Amino acid sequence: MKRYRVEPGGTLAGELAVPGDKSISHRALMLGGIAEGETDVRGFLTSEDCLATLGALRALGVAIETPEPRRVIVRGAGTAGLRGAAAPLDMGNAGTAMRLSMGLLAGRNFDSTLIGDSSLMRRPMERVAAPLRLMGARIDTHEGRPPVHIHGGAALKAIDYQLPVASAQVKSAILLAGLAADGRTRVTEPAPTRDHSERMLAAFGVELVRNGASVAMEGGQTLRGTEVQVPGDFSSAAFFLVAGCLAAQHGIVLRNVGVNPTRTGLLELLRMGAHVRIHPAPTPLGAEPIADIEVRAGALQGINVPESLVPLAIDEFPVFFVAAACAEGETLVRGALELRVKESDRLAVMAEGLDRLGVEVDLLPDGLWIRGGGGRFSGGTIDSHGDHRIAMAFAVAALRASAPIEILDVANVATSFPGFVETARAAGLAIAEQ
Ligand code: S3P
Repeated sequence: MKRYRVEPGGTLAGELAVPGDKSISHRALMLGGIAEGETDVRGFLTSEDCLATLGALRALGVAIETPEPRRVIVRGAGTAGLRGAAAPLDMGNAGTAMRLSMGLLAGRNFDSTLIGDSSLMRRPMERVAAPLRLMGARIDTHEGRPPVHIHGGAALKAIDYQLPVASAQVKSAILLAGLAADGRTRVTEPAPTRDHSERMLAAFGVELVRNGASVAMEGGQTLRGTEVQVPGDFSSAAFFLVAGCLAAQHGIVLRNVGVNPTRTGLLELLRMGAHVRIHPAPTPLGAEPIADIEVRAGALQGINVPESLVPLAIDEFPVFFVAAACAEGETLVRGALELRVKESDRLAVMAEGLDRLGVEVDLLPDGLWIRGGGGRFSGGTIDSHGDHRIAMAFAVAALRASAPIEILDVANVATSFPGFVETARAAGLAIAEQ
């Protein structure tokens, strides 16, 4: 089993770039797959999660080429052009791949079965299956979890759906099914979530109307292949944003990071004392805002996290909790039940790891309470429970540790951040993979 050993201390300096955005890369493949004509994706995230989507689309009959390491050309099969796969589609660790594929495959004339690794096989899928059934899809789950079996031949009709949980994956799955449905599909969210699907559908020529918390779209529209420039993944940049807050006395710069406001809740949270400056870049193709982000170490103060920020920083909480543990005073996060159903139970696993490093932490049903120690962790061995973001968060913690931190079960970092160790070393972390 792969592990990291991170020596304590270190200073961050210089400039760095993070790999492409995972959410946007999945969507570029899927929309490209059902578009008319060619989609040219640059800055693609060549990670295990996105390769699972790529493999699934190939199995569904879409021709995809990878002429360069971070470039993908998708020859769209058209809205009706997918064909049934010969075997179950293996989505690996990727929740986004599985949930969005449910929407993509619900209105087809062939059966599909979706499976994944041991983490994904434990994650809830009824949140997607239930609204798709309201549209007329026939979907079986195993006690709410994968394997997911989608029966072909169902004629979909549009629905007007109020999401019970703030989830971009559920919203996106309904919109993808809505493309194949008869009538006008409308989704209303309880709080804003990432809007990459809406932006990218528009870039592929789909007309959608956003009105407050709702987005609506007619079924039967044709997608036209396009060029997509994938920005650096804010969720990968987040590890270095926090690392910079802890240990970049003279600042570091993160180049070409996606700063879509439905993703950047962490920047609000880091107002707890970080020195962050955003230098917007001209928006290239694909309608996603991009910026260089400069961050310099500062004295952090504990905060009470507003619940409305939770969906806007949903993937950043593991590393935010590390920042909170380094702050002066208490930090409280509530309304974050969703963190329990990510690649691991991120509330329980972060509480366990922080406790192991000597932090005073309380696991709440829907959040965490942390007493910041002003910046010192003990060393120790942390079990990441196979969760990429937990592994990377504790690597950052080593910057403020008094002894080495060993992190177990780190292979899944490759699901979202290939080259993490090299990037972290270049930035100033004393990290080695063993
Ligand atoms: C994602 C949405 C979020 C996020 C996940 C990626 C997406 O999940 O946690 O990493 O690409 O739509 P939920 O929709 O379950 O909140």
